[in-house]
Formats: sequence, structure tokens, C-alpha cells
Amino acid sequence: MTAVPPLSSDDQPQHVAIIMDGNGRWARSRGRPRTFGHREGVEALRRTVEAAGALNLAYLTVFGFSTENWSRPKDEVHTLMDLLRLYVQRDLDRLVREGVRIRVIGERSGLSADILRIIETAESRTAQNTHLNLTIAFNYGAQNEIARAARRVAEDVARGALRPDEVNEASLGARLDTAGLPAPDLIVRTSGELRLSNFMLWQAAYAELVFLDILWPDFDRAALEAAIDEFRRRERRYGGASRHAGS
Ligand code: FPP
Repeated sequence: MTAVPPLSSDDQPQHVAIIMDGNGRWARSRGRPRTFGHREGVEALRRTVEAAGALNLAYLTVFGFSTENWSRPKDEVHTLMDLLRLYVQRDLDRLVREGVRIRVIGERSGLSADILRIIETAESRTAQNTHLNLTIAFNYGAQNEIARAARRVAEDVARGALRPDEVNEASLGARLDTAGLPAPDLIVRTSGELRLSNFMLWQAAYAELVFLDILWPDFDRAALEAAIDEFRRRERRYGGASRHAGS
């Protein structure tokens, strides 16, 4: 591997998105239940948010619960819901103080009233923050997100607020849950799986993909920096002329 110079503001990704995978395997290898792995996953998330702030990343998005995760055993689904409660409630004051803006993307219907209240409180209490934009994908699936955006487009066309010839990448993109957020430059998946698993499919159009063998509960600042180093070695072309990832 060639040496990579230290991170500077002009050659690091603006938006890193992470598929936090491998909690179950991490727990199993220790003879513990999968839910134990998810709990440790929250600690890894805390470390990662802190590291992202320290590295001056502007946007960090994490995949916390997918629309497909409902098919997992009831107690595991329950734990994942509890962990969102725990993470947001325990960390919110600190995140407010540290300038982190929280957004939650995904399908809101189907979530319990108390989870919705926690999400709304976290979003409104951090709405003025600008240091790090933390987006949690929760009850999220990219196909579901695109279908909901398409439904909004159809509704706007039906009520005359949008003409059919105005339906394009920009008008559909503006109706996605990620409206107003830049597309991720870098998508990281842990645990060695080489899939996007219905995560940010629209937004991933030009993202660099980095797959790490590390299991999510072991993720830390060094792993984040390793993924960013890999990003900076890539050439990004955006379908046009050659351009280095960081430039
Ligand atoms: C994948 O591991 C991980 C998840 C389905 C959930 C990720 C959740 C956390 C890291 C906890 C923090 C979450 C929130 C919402 C704050 P897996 O169970 O699929 O692992 P495996 O592939 O090894 O079985």
C-alpha cells in the first residue's frame, strides 16, 4: 500500500454512509446472543460519531434498522427499537452540545408513537446544529424510499403542483427522505459482505464503496480512517474525465 498523506479538508469525503453489519456474528463468536452484539454496536456507533466529529466530516449516515429487519425474531426487533431509544435518549444532551444535527430517514408509519416522539424530539432539538450531520436510517429501505418519493410526485402531478415534464432526477430527488443532503461520497460496509442491501440505492450512484472485514462492534476511529484512506486512493470519474477521489 502506498503512503497516504494526513487528512486535509479538501481531499476527504464530505459524506460517509455506513452499513453497520456483523453484530450477530460478533456475538456468536463469543457465545452470546445476537442482541448482545447489537448493544455493543451502539458503543461502536458512539465511537464513530465522535471520530467523525474529530475528523471534521460534515455528514455521517448509518443504517440502524431496515424495512426487512421486521422479519427477525421478535426479541431482536424489540432490542433494536430499544437501542434507538437508548442511544438517542442517553446521548441527546451531549449531541446537542457538540453541534450534531440528527435526522432520521425511513418509513415513519409502522413505528410506535414513543419512537416517533423520540425521533421528532431529537430532530427538533438539534435542528440548528451545524458541526456534524448525523442521519440515522431507521425502518429504512431504499426501494421503499424511492416508491414513497414517486407517490409524492404522482400526488403533486395530480393536484397540478408539478407538470409531467418536470418529473426528473432533481424533482424526484427533492422528494426523497434525503432531500437537502449531499449524496454520500463513500459508503462503507463492515463484516465482509459485498452488498448494498437496499441502502441508499439512488444516492449511491457515484459513491465509492469500501468493504471492510471488521465486524461492526469492533469498528473504531482507526477503521473509519482506513476506509477514508481507501477512498482517497480511488479515482472518481462521475462518468466523465478522470478525477482523483479526494479532488
Ligand atoms: C447488522 O448486524 C446490524 C443491524 C441489523 C443493526 C445495526 C444496529 C446497531 C449497530 C445498533 C445501533 C442502532 C441504532 C438504531 C442506534 P447483523 O445482526 O445482521 O449481523 P450478522 O450479519 O452478523 O448477523
